[in-house]
Amino acid sequence: MCGIVGYIGKKQALPILLQGLRDLEYRGYDSAGIAVLDNGKIDRVREVGKVDMLAKKIGQVKIAGTLGIAHTRWATHGGVTEFNAHPHIVGSGKLALVHNGIIENYREIKKQLKNQKQESETDSEILGQLIFENYEGDLVKAVKKSLLKVRGTYGIVVMHADHPNQLVAARLGSPLAIGIAEGEYYIASDVTPMLPFTKQVTFLDDGEIANINGDGLKIQNMRDEIINKTITHIDWDQQKAQKGGFENFMIKEIFDQPTVFEDAIRGRFNMEEGTAVLGGLNMTLEQMRDIKRVIFVAEGTARYTGLIGKYAFERLADLPCDVDFSSEFRYRDPAVNKHTLVFVISQSGETADTLMATREAKRKGAVVRGIVNVIGSTIARETKAGTYIHAGPELSVASTKAYTNMVAVLLLYALQFGRIKHTSLATGKRLLQALLEIPEKMNEILKQDAAIKKIAESYKDYKSILYIGRGVNYPVALEGTMKLKETSYIHAEGFAGGELKHGPLALVSKDVPVVAILSKDQLYEKMKSSIQEVRARGARTLVIATVGDEEAKEVADDIIYVPDTMELLEPLLNTIPLQLFAYHIAVALGRDVDRPRNLAKSVTVE
Ligand code: AGP
Repeated sequence: MCGIVGYIGKKQALPILLQGLRDLEYRGYDSAGIAVLDNGKIDRVREVGKVDMLAKKIGQVKIAGTLGIAHTRWATHGGVTEFNAHPHIVGSGKLALVHNGIIENYREIKKQLKNQKQESETDSEILGQLIFENYEGDLVKAVKKSLLKVRGTYGIVVMHADHPNQLVAARLGSPLAIGIAEGEYYIASDVTPMLPFTKQVTFLDDGEIANINGDGLKIQNMRDEIINKTITHIDWDQQKAQKGGFENFMIKEIFDQPTVFEDAIRGRFNMEEGTAVLGGLNMTLEQMRDIKRVIFVAEGTARYTGLIGKYAFERLADLPCDVDFSSEFRYRDPAVNKHTLVFVISQSGETADTLMATREAKRKGAVVRGIVNVIGSTIARETKAGTYIHAGPELSVASTKAYTNMVAVLLLYALQFGRIKHTSLATGKRLLQALLEIPEKMNEILKQDAAIKKIAESYKDYKSILYIGRGVNYPVALEGTMKLKETSYIHAEGFAGGELKHGPLALVSKDVPVVAILSKDQLYEKMKSSIQEVRARGARTLVIATVGDEEAKEVADDIIYVPDTMELLEPLLNTIPLQLFAYHIAVALGRDVDRPRNLAKSVTVE
C-alpha cells in the first residue's frame, strides 16, 4: 500500500519520479505528490486522484532539480485530501518525507513535539516533524534517533534543503529497493520504476537505513554498523511491465498466461523419472519423507491456489493438508513443528499478514518455503528457500497470471513429494506431459475472448452472481467470484456444488444467475444435478464445460468450452474463462479494472 519513489543523480528528477509513480500506481491511487530540491529550495506539488491528475496539475510548472521524492497514496490515517497527500514538508520548507506504513504510536510522539501544528491528519507528517526536531546537522542521525522512538511499520525517504546531494531511506516492514547506476540511485517500493535505468538492485532489510550522497550508498543498521549488502541482478525487462498494446494491464496479463506459464515450468521437470525438480525445495529425500503435514498459508487469490495445492498434495503425496488465511494463522497458535511443511504463497512477497505468518511458522520450527513472484521481495528473502513463480511483473490489482503460475508450482511440488511416496512413474509422466500441453490449451480458450465478452456483457446488470464447482474446481469457483467482485463490484459468492442445498439454494432466483464449472470428473453427474436444481428455481446458468461434452448443453443457458486435461490441472484452464468473464463485465460497467476502488495491489498493512 502506497508507492514511494526517490531519485538522486544527474538527470532531471521530475520525469523519473512521475513515471515511477505511474509504475507504482497499483499500490495506491487516491492521491499523489512529488517534491524536488533545487538551489536549497524544495518545490512540491500534490493532487487528489490518480497520477495523471498530478501530472496535469504540474503541467507547465517548471520544476527543475536532480534530487527528489514522490508518493502515491492508499489512505490509512486521514481522509483523501491534498493536505494528507505526501510528500509532507515540515520545518518551514526544510525537510520533506514520503512514508509507506503505519506509525502506531503517532499520538504519543505528537505529544512530545515542540511544534504542535500539523498541516495534515497523517501519522507520516508527525514522523517528519520528529525527524526535523531531532535534526542537528546530520540527517542520518536525525532519522535514526526518530525511528528508535517509532512503533509500527515504515518505508521512508527523506530529503533536507540543506543537503542538496543526499537522500536518506529506511525500512521496517514496508519494502524499499535501491537501484544502482553510474553516479545515480533510484529508490522505490518495488523494482519496476528502476528497470529502464538499471538492473542492479539492493533491497533494504528491516531496521536498515540507507544514506545516499556524493560518496555513494552506505547502508547501516540501528546500531550504526555498516552492512555489506548483496546486489541482485533483476532479469525482468521493462517491456514486460508495460501494456504492450492492450487496453489495460488486467487483459494483458490474462493473455500473458500461456507464455509465462512456460517460464513457471521450464527446467523444473525430469521427464525420465516422471518427477519435478524444484531446486528451491532444498531438502534431501530423507527430510522430505520426514514431512507429515503440509499447510498452505496465504491471502485472497493466493490462498485459493493453496486450496488447489491441498487437493494435489493429498492426491499425489498422500499428505494431510490444511489451508489457512495468513491473517488467522499468525494469531492462532498454529500446531506446527519440524515435521510440518508450510508453504507461504504470495505474488507480491510483501503482504503483511503473510510475512508475519512466515515469521510465526519459522519461530515455531516448521519447514517454511515461499512461493513468490516478486524477485527480492521480503517473503522471498526471509524464506531463503522456495520457488519463484516467474509470472513477471503483475500490475493489475486483480491477480491472474500469478494465480496460474502459483498453481503450476504447487502441482510441481506435489508431484515431487508424490514421486517419493505413492505416485507412479506413469502418473508422473502423464502429469508432466499434460503440463507441457497447457499453454496451447490456454491459447484455445483465449481465442474465444470475443464470444466470452458477448456472454459477459449480457450478465452485467445482475446484482449478485453465484459460482459453484466441486473438487479441484471448488477453488476455481471461489477465484471466479474474487475476480468478479474486485473488478466489477458485483456481489458474488462461491460454493462447493454439494453444499448448495444446505443453505445457499435459498439465494437462487431468476435474478441470481449461477456460474457452474462442470468437469468430466467422477462428480460429473452430481454437479449436473446441482445445476439442474438451480435452473429449476429460475436461475440462468453459465456452464464451463469440457470440449465435446454435448450433454452439458442440457443444463446451460450459456456455455463456454475448455479443452480437456488431467483433473488436477483443470484449474489452470477453467479459471481463464472466469477471468475473462469478470474482466468484460467490469469493462462494460465502466470500471477502472486495473485499479479497483478501495484496493491496492500489495497489502503491506494489517
Ligand atoms: C487478487 O486478485 C487480489 N487482489 C488479492 O486477493 C491478492 O491475491 C491478495 O491480496 C494476496 O496478495 P499477494 O499474493 O501479493 O500476497
